[in-house]
Amino acid sequence: MNLVYFIGAGPGDADLLTLKGARLLRQCRTVFAPTPFEVTFAEHLVAKKVLIPFDYFFTELLELLDQELRHGEVAFLVPGDLTFYSPFQALIDALGTRAAVVPGVGTANAASAWLKKTLDLPGVCNRALIVSPRTLGDAADAPTLAQLAAPGVAMLIYMNNIPLPQLCGQLRQGYGGAVPIAILHRLGLPGETVVTGDLDDIVAKVGDRDFFNLDGPVKRPALTLIIVGETLTATVDGSWWDWRREHLWRFRENGEGE
Ligand SMILES: C[S@@+](CC[C@H](N)C(=O)[O-])C[C@H]1O[C@@H](n2cnc3c(N)ncnc32)[C@H](O)[C@@H]1O
Repeated sequence: MNLVYFIGAGPGDADLLTLKGARLLRQCRTVFAPTPFEVTFAEHLVAKKVLIPFDYFFTELLELLDQELRHGEVAFLVPGDLTFYSPFQALIDALGTRAAVVPGVGTANAASAWLKKTLDLPGVCNRALIVSPRTLGDAADAPTLAQLAAPGVAMLIYMNNIPLPQLCGQLRQGYGGAVPIAILHRLGLPGETVVTGDLDDIVAKVGDRDFFNLDGPVKRPALTLIIVGETLTATVDGSWWDWRREHLWRFRENGEGE
């Protein structure tokens, strides 16, 4: 039976495709590639039928998939991967056993690598929250960003639609101070830009750049991820390593512990 593979394609740079993703993509005859993946993955798409998934309504897409599957395997290039804020869940559910999902490099992973920072630094950030003001807005009783922000929280904000000055005001309320913030725009894509600062100076650093698509007529989510939290500027010394070496890791050498 031919399958539809939902391949985690990463933030946009084709070099971040996994080996498994690349192998499965090679064997697919038809590829649905959301913009700009039809461009950045061009060398993986030579001689394939390339379609844009968002050109179709849902039922049309299911009919088209039925047809395409008769001729060969099909791939969807999933931006980042399925884990967070992926639009493909309904398709995967409708396809049932004809769908297979391949993990990829999420934007959060690419951002952490760009910043060279782990997002849950012991003693600094003890939890990470993944949020979007767009989906928080779906429920009247959902917590606000000001309620979710707190010292020790690393917050990853996808699809921001709040003007930066207001956003920083809400976050400042929750954090109680000017914690570090990073704005990562078009990671792994042409025009990649990262601006770092804190909740007090980031607005001036960004200036009039519209990283969130808020100035144009169509307020589509922009390819911009925000990360906030003390971990962005914290550093740890080797005592962290040695404590774990002494209390946790060395037991492994004797076959003990997990
Ligand atoms: C619909 S969500 C898709 C997230 C995706 N499933 C993932 O795993 O990263 C789209 C949002 O992800 C973030 N995003 C996706 N690609 C990005 C990129 N190349 N650079 C920065 N942020 C990106 C932005 O916040 C954007 O609005």
